[in-house]
Amino acid sequence: MKLGASIEIQGLKKTYGPLTVVDRISLSVAPGEFISLLGSSGSGKTTTLMMVAGLTMPDAGEIVIGGREISRLPPEKRALGVVFQSYALFPHYTVFNNVAFPLRLRKVAEADIKRQVQEVLDKVGLSALGGRKIGQLSGGQQQRVALARAIVFSPPVLLMDEPLGALDRKLRDQLQTEIKRIQRDLGVTVIYVTHDQEEALALSDRIAVMKDGRIDQIGTPDEIYEKPGSPFIAGFLGESNFIDVTRGRNAGDDAQVVCVADLARSFVGRLANDAARATDLVAVIRPEAIEIAGDGTRLDNQIEGVVEQRDFMGATIRIAVRCSLGKLVVRVSRLHLATNCAIGRPVSLTWRSRDMLLFPRT
Ligand SMILES: Nc1ncnc2c1ncn2[C@@H]1O[C@H](COP(=O)(O)OP(=O)(O)OP(=O)(O)O)[C@@H](O)[C@H]1O
Ligand SMILES: [Mg+2]
Repeated sequence: MKLGASIEIQGLKKTYGPLTVVDRISLSVAPGEFISLLGSSGSGKTTTLMMVAGLTMPDAGEIVIGGREISRLPPEKRALGVVFQSYALFPHYTVFNNVAFPLRLRKVAEADIKRQVQEVLDKVGLSALGGRKIGQLSGGQQQRVALARAIVFSPPVLLMDEPLGALDRKLRDQLQTEIKRIQRDLGVTVIYVTHDQEEALALSDRIAVMKDGRIDQIGTPDEIYEKPGSPFIAGFLGESNFIDVTRGRNAGDDAQVVCVADLARSFVGRLANDAARATDLVAVIRPEAIEIAGDGTRLDNQIEGVVEQRDFMGATIRIAVRCSLGKLVVRVSRLHLATNCAIGRPVSLTWRSRDMLLFPRT
């Protein structure tokens, strides 16, 4: 059964004294969509989620869930599942009783409670641990209990604030997969807060990148990664090289640019939308868009340098190359690394103009 509800947020605002921490955010989430709020510490993610949950009152704006305006309802009338880091479990209750709590609150009959709790414990892989006290569980098991408690009453919307924050990488990956599977099974709409970009990229249908209480860019993981709306976003999602350049000739969507650090060097890059008139630009290139030129490879742009550092990252190798522009970081697949690029070796780097995005410099 699909039960997700749509969420419409309009002009949501929160101030604390002179500080505007959420600055008129608007956001539409489709039924069953998984959307992440991603941003650095203090960007207003938790505050936004708390307003949707009804735990913080907005100064302005509206929140409509499933067609119903709810921004003035108390949290328990909003029928939302919440998993907050601070939303602690009851430590002296058993797993079963923690998960049963929202159902008892809703006066569900005991026989139904038993069945529903068993079902949901099964879903999160905890059916054997129903009788344990919370204090006798590992961190990952506690996170599963919190998730089970949030979904047991089949809420149409699930709000999660860094639910995996305290866990190690392996357990995070495992629970991410489970959260995604459960969300697909139930068809529930999710707003998920994280400052972990890999987590956001892996889980989300769309990501809203937050900065200073606003949504800086919203889009699918691909869109945001491939077409970052600003150098800030390019640096926040994945790694990027930044080069200060000055505008030369235009050629359609592309422009020729001269490097500030080496005026003898010019390249061709792709102009971002808002770079149409700016003269001082910053060029942004992803490390994996740069190739080490072997025999014959020669893309639109090229520069020579010397390998300064190399790090093994598993499937890829990350190479830092010193050149007249400064340091360029390159990421190559191990399988494709034919050229010798030991530290101290000269290498020639090459990349396409469409992979060099030009933004106005601020
Ligand atoms: N009750 C409060 N009183 C005053 N300021 C607050 C209050 N709650 C949050 N703030 C401020 O609002 C801003 C946004 O906080 P918020 O918790 O929403 O950030 P966040 O994006 O969730 O950050 P983090 O990644 O660190 O959890 C911060 O500058 C914070 O100090
Ligand atoms: Mg937070």
